Amino acid sequence: MTEEVAVQPREKKGKVIGVQGPVVDIKFECVEDMPDMHETIYTRTFDKRDVILLVAEHLEGNIGRCVSLTSTLNLQRNAVATATGTPLTIPVGDELFGRIINVMGYPIDGKGPINATMRSPIHKDVTRMAVNVGDIAGNKADIVETGIKIVDLLFPVVRGSKTGVIGGAGCGKTVLISELIHNIVEEHDGACVFCGIGERIREGNELYFEFEQVGILNKIMMAFGQMDEPPGARFNIILTGITLAEYLQSKGKEVLLFMDNVFRFVQAGSEISTLLGRTPSETGYQPTLSSEVGDVHERIKGSISAFEAVYVPADDTTDPAVVAIFSYLDAVMVLSRERTQLGLYPAIDPLASSCSNLDPAIVGQRHFSLAQELLRILTKYEELRRIVAVIGIDELSKADRTLYERARKLQSFMTQPMFVAESYIGKKGQYVTTAETLDCVEKIMDGKTDDRPEEEFYMIGKFE
Ligand SMILES: Nc1ncnc2c1ncn2[C@@H]1O[C@H](COP(=O)(O)OP(=O)(O)OP(=O)(O)O)[C@@H](O)[C@H]1O
Ligand SMILES: [Mg+2]
Repeated sequence: MTEEVAVQPREKKGKVIGVQGPVVDIKFECVEDMPDMHETIYTRTFDKRDVILLVAEHLEGNIGRCVSLTSTLNLQRNAVATATGTPLTIPVGDELFGRIINVMGYPIDGKGPINATMRSPIHKDVTRMAVNVGDIAGNKADIVETGIKIVDLLFPVVRGSKTGVIGGAGCGKTVLISELIHNIVEEHDGACVFCGIGERIREGNELYFEFEQVGILNKIMMAFGQMDEPPGARFNIILTGITLAEYLQSKGKEVLLFMDNVFRFVQAGSEISTLLGRTPSETGYQPTLSSEVGDVHERIKGSISAFEAVYVPADDTTDPAVVAIFSYLDAVMVLSRERTQLGLYPAIDPLASSCSNLDPAIVGQRHFSLAQELLRILTKYEELRRIVAVIGIDELSKADRTLYERARKLQSFMTQPMFVAESYIGKKGQYVTTAETLDCVEKIMDGKTDDRPEEEFYMIGKFE
């Protein structure tokens, strides 16, 4: 680390004059010495550990207020700080396949140094694209099959779109994202990036071994800034992940970018904002919430298809952070706690979710009509369910009763055993093609299965 600093051309020395947790103030001799915004600064603790800082604010008196990417334990006032004259860069290149890096681009998988020759800054100026009508109209939507029935039917994944999996604690976001990785990466001929943001440390571990077992490790680059890291690391790790995806994109590849969990990015931003002494907005979040979420999402474009898990605090989907992320997503799968309690995994609530790719021009007329019919039946079922709770099923008219029973079968059929959840339910995962899903759903709707019990449709793949 220190050698790297020594060769930087424009380095300037300053002194640490204040440390407040992950926020560090550095004073420079004169105004000309002041580092740029987002410039990297190195300093050392008294026990000779490197501390890496990013400039976040310029204060009066030639003071740069910085956010630390590493722990500031044992950092003292008067420690010498070196402004490197460069922004934070990470190594990029095919050498990163199968490797795990942290926010600064250092390998954290114990597999030795990464010998990449190229580096790329993680902060980039986001040039907002003008509306590009030609591009949108000219590109035929290319659908990625996921093998998960409810996802293929109601939330078709189009290449280059952003799909969100949102839900409260323990509703199955991580399991669903892992299943998506499991099912599509193997088939996918492009490349993949997984970005772990502020979640459990063990999950990164599990994922690594899962990839290794399935034999897809050589297609994936990983970046982790998990919950044990300072807010600066958890906030910027998303940019590290996106920078890897941008590298792959620049090589002409189709890229899948998985992120778990984007809410933690907002949360880290909020911590930093408070530590920097900014007044929060009325909602309690940082005043820069929407621009931070926006800047990140503006960089996910072109051939990058993104899958984002979003934690919903207190199961409240109107939370300002969730809403800010929401508006950038093409498809939103909302996981419901009620469904997890009934064991209806994946616990996607079709009536609370939405998908702009569900369009006859993209999925075809038959698929579209079946999906609309499913939503109609489920909406009616919700009404009938309340009536049945009061007066019992025998009081329903014949037509309503048929619809009620078919709706329950459809609801059961939308559950599916997952490969990555085999240990939870003891059933082997099932991959169902979209064509099979459509055929089965049509059979149930047409009454061809009216004589079969509802249980037969629970946690299965397709049926004959
Ligand atoms: N598809 C599934 N099949 C069976 N069990 C599941 C499934 N999805 C989730 N579960 C159960 O729910 C638990 C929590 O799932 P998961 O870790 O994915 O939740 P999460 O939404 O990521 O939670 P957190 O917000 O805490 O990260 C799992 O440990 C498992 O027991
Ligand atoms: Mg999770």
